[in-house]
Amino acid sequence: MKDTGALKEIFPSSRVKTDQADLMHWGTDWTRSFDIAPQAIVFPQCADEIVALVKLARDRSLGLVPSGGRTGLSGGAVASNNEIVVSFDRMNQIKEFNSTDRIVRCEAGVITKNLQDYALDKGLFYPVDFASSGSSQIGGNVATNAGGIKVIRYGLTRDWVVGLTVVTGKGDIIRCNRGLVKNATGYDLRHLFIGSEGTLGFVVEVEIRLAPGPKPQRVLVLGVNRLDDILNILECFQQRIVLTAFEFFSELALQKVLKHGDGQRPFPESCAFYALVEFDAEADEEAAIAFEEALDRDWVTTGVISQSDAQASALWSLRENISESIAADTPYKNDLSVRISEVPGFLSDVDHIVNQHYPEFDVCWYGHIGDGNLHLNILKPESLSIDAFFERCHQINPELFNLIEQRGGSISAEHGVGLLKRDFLSYSRGDSEVGMMRELKAVFDPDGVMNPGKLLSV
Ligand code: MLT
Ligand code: ZN
Repeated sequence: MKDTGALKEIFPSSRVKTDQADLMHWGTDWTRSFDIAPQAIVFPQCADEIVALVKLARDRSLGLVPSGGRTGLSGGAVASNNEIVVSFDRMNQIKEFNSTDRIVRCEAGVITKNLQDYALDKGLFYPVDFASSGSSQIGGNVATNAGGIKVIRYGLTRDWVVGLTVVTGKGDIIRCNRGLVKNATGYDLRHLFIGSEGTLGFVVEVEIRLAPGPKPQRVLVLGVNRLDDILNILECFQQRIVLTAFEFFSELALQKVLKHGDGQRPFPESCAFYALVEFDAEADEEAAIAFEEALDRDWVTTGVISQSDAQASALWSLRENISESIAADTPYKNDLSVRISEVPGFLSDVDHIVNQHYPEFDVCWYGHIGDGNLHLNILKPESLSIDAFFERCHQINPELFNLIEQRGGSISAEHGVGLLKRDFLSYSRGDSEVGMMRELKAVFDPDGVMNPGKLLSV
């Protein structure tokens, strides 16, 4: 498309942007290694405008890239090939709340944190949470089936979506499940769209089930010297109490956060690793018993427990601010998962590979270890260019992903596939499965206009 005339037949000029700065701003996510080259950004205000846009895209062979809070880490919302970016910033209304059903209906562009706050105002709880919840949008969370820090107790975005309205690549509007608890009427298309990264259709509205209001929480940070012991600690606590979160991070990750100016050491001693445990405050006594046992067995060297909500947030910030604190080091990110029982063996194998291939690189480990999700971040030395650094990091991918395949894990636990992992999908999905994914794509998006090149190559 040479000019924006056709777009302006659908959208007023004020909702079509083509300035270079705007293209660069809305045409990307948090990844830094892909070209950013959209041709225009549009800001729909309703599903019908998106239907008209999909029709235009099909007529003119235009790619459409959905754009939410742009906090993705796999390039799922990057427009690098002259696409039209569809920003959901103007579809940010919470439309309806039903207290009997405990369901909230909201547009795709609602910021996750606004939904969380809305739920708390109603005395309820939206438990899906992660560091970027202040910017990410619910539509993007659905598109990537976002996980985060409380998955161990509350599950993923998928577990809270009870209804979904989607504009497909055919330009149809589909309303899935309509908030029902029970609905045994065949294929549940809702779950096909969740995690599909906008490649089948764009989510325009979501119905979310809310949980009962949360009980007061306690946060405990533990010092750990051997990585293997973290799983012993997990089991020790889980035998006694229900955990809300169980995270880990390395000393290097902590140092990065402190250097970034976010907070203080949890205790004076520095340890190789730290575990962050969250649980209902009413389980204090059982938690103290678990802590004593972990100390006796030498799994834990020391610990600190929150005495107030402010202290709990300060301890959480040591974990949640890692991603931002290492951003300046242009990390090569790998978001991996294996079954929890496989974690210790997997960690030591990965450590071995990384030390063998990159003895000179800093490796920053953290993640949601309680659910088997590990974030491996290799930090770029100042002396290397981004291209040279990424090139070197790419070299171990086959070895690393082979390891994941052998252990039945996933090459993308929660960040999605996007552009970053697309060419490695076969390490986690079989040939026939990928073939069927392609067939499904053709059903919902016959002309390949919905987020082309993401998840599946074109
Ligand atoms: C996190 O757990 O902090 C997020 O997934 C972001 C990241 O991995 O950097
Ligand atoms: Zn994470």
